[in-house]
Amino acid sequence: MSELLKGKVTVITGALGGLGSATARTFLSHGAKVVVADVQDKRGAEFAECLGENAHYVSADVSQEADIKNLVAEAVKKFGKLDVFFNNAGVIGDGGTFLEIGTDGYDAVQAINARSVLLGHKHAALQFIAQGGGGSIISTSSVAGLQGGWSTVSYTASKHTIAGLVHQAAYELGQYGIRSNAIAPGVVMTDIQSRAFDVPLERAREFNDYIQEQLGAKQGLKRFGVPQDIANAAVYFASDLSLYVNGVVMPVDGGAFAMTHNTFLEDIVGVRESFLAQ
Ligand SMILES: NC(=O)c1ccc[n+]([C@@H]2O[C@H](COP(=O)([O-])OP(=O)(O)OC[C@H]3O[C@@H](n4cnc5c(N)ncnc54)[C@H](O)[C@@H]3O)[C@@H](O)[C@H]2O)c1
Repeated sequence: MSELLKGKVTVITGALGGLGSATARTFLSHGAKVVVADVQDKRGAEFAECLGENAHYVSADVSQEADIKNLVAEAVKKFGKLDVFFNNAGVIGDGGTFLEIGTDGYDAVQAINARSVLLGHKHAALQFIAQGGGGSIISTSSVAGLQGGWSTVSYTASKHTIAGLVHQAAYELGQYGIRSNAIAPGVVMTDIQSRAFDVPLERAREFNDYIQEQLGAKQGLKRFGVPQDIANAAVYFASDLSLYVNGVVMPVDGGAFAMTHNTFLEDIVGVRESFLAQ
């Protein structure tokens, strides 16, 4: 498609999910070499096989530092260097509300969604510094990393942490030519919706179609997001087009974060009607 990422060695975690797999395909179509990492090893090996010789699967549980360290080493072993590290793996988790939450559920979500991003920065940066020439770190946050009310407290806190890590990375790692930016998707049609709303996974595609059909027209751009929207943003942060962009958490949400979801105006209009009718 283009040579925007020609020769760049990229790592994508959570690469078998909706956003990760779309990004892997898109990075390849722009000339990258792609190391896809996940915890679903059988599917991962098949996926890499089907992507071709410029793709390679590595098993990596992002909550484990040894796995992330090994992932970077495997990428370098396979393709000779590292240019881009995409911290994309994430889970909704089952944290519940403030009044119900247990520390185990909370900690598990932080380990996969937030601590992993710290570790991805650490091991990618060590490699970038060792080889010289900088690099790009991308992380998948969420609109739930920018505002409350989109998800559970554990998910929301984990995604807000990513903003802190990205800002601190800009401060600490910029001197090495290392850039760190995050993408904050809105609602994007992947299996995660079925996980979040407790719908059987085998009906995920059907559920996503139904959400789009019933509610799409109410969204700012008259649709929900699709994985390609996020993959395209990742190409920008991975490529030299964003060489002077650092420390940014960019919503890719069709404008959802820019607009309030609070119904207070409609509510006041309703109250006004009943007030004037008195
Ligand atoms: N889809 C959305 O609406 C949306 C919105 C905002 C943010 N996000 C974020 O985007 C990222 C990707 O989500 P998605 O929609 O593709 O979800 P998905 O459920 O389709 O994919 C998630 C992938 O992460 C993998 N994974 C889970 N735990 C892991 C671990 N410990 N180590 C390595 N891999 C692990 C899963 O096996 C899966 O392949 C996540 O960080 C998610 O929080 C998604």
